[in-house]
Amino acid sequence: MGDITKQNVDAIVNAANTTLLGGGGVDGAIHTAAGPELLKECEKLGGCSTGKAKITKGFNLPAKWVIHTVGPVWSGGQYNEKFVLTSCYQNCLKLAEEYQIKTLAFPSISTGAYRFPITEASEIALREIKKHLDQKSSQIEKVLIVCFDEKTYLHYLAQLGHV
Ligand code: APR
Repeated sequence: MGDITKQNVDAIVNAANTTLLGGGGVDGAIHTAAGPELLKECEKLGGCSTGKAKITKGFNLPAKWVIHTVGPVWSGGQYNEKFVLTSCYQNCLKLAEEYQIKTLAFPSISTGAYRFPITEASEIALREIKKHLDQKSSQIEKVLIVCFDEKTYLHYLAQLGHV
């Protein structure tokens, strides 16, 4: 439970939209905490496709980097949403390795405005993070999933037992 903008880690992940120009939710909180320079850097990135990830500095955040990823909007589950959410976690972890990021914090991607069911989303998040960290080649030492509300937290806690 906590606020991802306050986490003292090498990188935090932002649940952004394809414009990368900010928004509400965790995207808004990260831009507010990082300051206006984050938007300036994002403007140069030319957006981000759903399922992909791009990295910027963290500016005024305690975290050195922000990895922006665009989760799927839940549309009933027949449109590859699970595959796309899986790609978000995989692409963020891949970028973290490329930038020698040792500690990383994720929010619960897509489970807010994008309405992805929390049970399936938390299962995907924990499975992909565990699968990645189990690889001998991974240099990542710690991954946090920072839940902003109790309901989300309890879902992740419940899923932890199954991974
Ligand atoms: N720290 C950690 N988690 C947070 C924070 C915070 N400061 N603020 C919100 N959250 C949580 C929400 O409670 C939710 O559990 O992040 C999770 C993801 O919710 P959203 O931020 O709504 O993200 P998402 O569902 O992926 O929707 C993305 O919303 O803000 C816009 O620009 C964003 O269009 C994009 C869309």
